[in-house]
Amino acid sequence: MSCSYTFPGNIRFGEGAFRELPACLPAGCRPMLVMGKSFSLSAEGKELLELLAPLQPVIRIGVPAEPPLESVDELITLGRAGQVDSVIAVGGGSVIDAAKAAAALIPVEGTVGEYFSGARTIPGKGLFFAALPTTAGTGAESTNNSVLTDTATKIKKSLRHPLMKADLAIVDPMLTWSCPRALTAASGLDAFVQAFEGYTNPKASELTRALSAQAVKLILKNLKAACDGDHAARNAMAEGSMLSGVAFSQTGLGAIHGFAHPIGSLLHVPHGVACAVLMVPVMRWNEPVCGARYRELAEICGVPDFIGAAEELARALEIPSDFKKYGLTKDHFPFIVKNCRSASMATNPRPFTDGEAEDFLETFC
Ligand SMILES: [Fe+2]
Repeated sequence: MSCSYTFPGNIRFGEGAFRELPACLPAGCRPMLVMGKSFSLSAEGKELLELLAPLQPVIRIGVPAEPPLESVDELITLGRAGQVDSVIAVGGGSVIDAAKAAAALIPVEGTVGEYFSGARTIPGKGLFFAALPTTAGTGAESTNNSVLTDTATKIKKSLRHPLMKADLAIVDPMLTWSCPRALTAASGLDAFVQAFEGYTNPKASELTRALSAQAVKLILKNLKAACDGDHAARNAMAEGSMLSGVAFSQTGLGAIHGFAHPIGSLLHVPHGVACAVLMVPVMRWNEPVCGARYRELAEICGVPDFIGAAEELARALEIPSDFKKYGLTKDHFPFIVKNCRSASMATNPRPFTDGEAEDFLETFC
């Protein structure tokens, strides 16, 4: 079977690239701008708002973390009422995912819940969609899905369509400079996990592994300094996150993301933190199957032991070793095991039976 690769329509990377946004939009467009709240108060956020003011965008500042369906419906209502023809997302993964879903659904009928439940199917291309990440990162500027949460059922899963990829992704490291330390650490570890889960994924190819390997190397080398506010390190993190997103959007992820979604939605664990806590134990589970890949990554990164390096990084960033403080108990296991069977879990290098998944979860209580 052949390999198939799809990318955002146009990816721009570089310091100051966000200033190219107006010139990259369709001529005469009437956009909806969805921007993260804290970013909107930064110097770059204010400059972006000024740059877009001549287009008189419909503006929505702030989207809840781990976006609930209701927040997407609010964007859809706003966009339909304002008769917008394009959507611009400037923020972290939650902002980009919510705006991406809105861009797909504004021009069609129904609520996002109807598409999320499968009652309706996304018919095709939505509105022009531009994504500018302000964290490094989630890779959401490169993926064709939105991770959303139904707060009634606590189910967190992807709304997906091949044509949901951004038409324009501007990855500008400057947009990450104001990101607080804790969010830089959590989103950076998410990017790190996504980079090596892409690398070890059974669907990986020479092309995707080249991108994933470079992402792993950049992130491992720069994340600690990025958390300390070093601009050069933050620039390298933005590039690493972009490379990881381009790669894993072709391959998919693994069990860290498989478990992170139900644990995150059930116990309100931020996504990056959930991935970081699960990271090393899942690597050890996968080691019998993909030990050779970890040895390749160790060599690429210039470290003696890749799992050991990941463990040291998590320790340096003060990541907890379990979910005790989030209240995980055995009573949660049936929900987690039932809802971890996502596309990510399906492509984990070493499968988990339900019983093995329950035994594995015991170590986090
Ligand atoms: Fe992630």
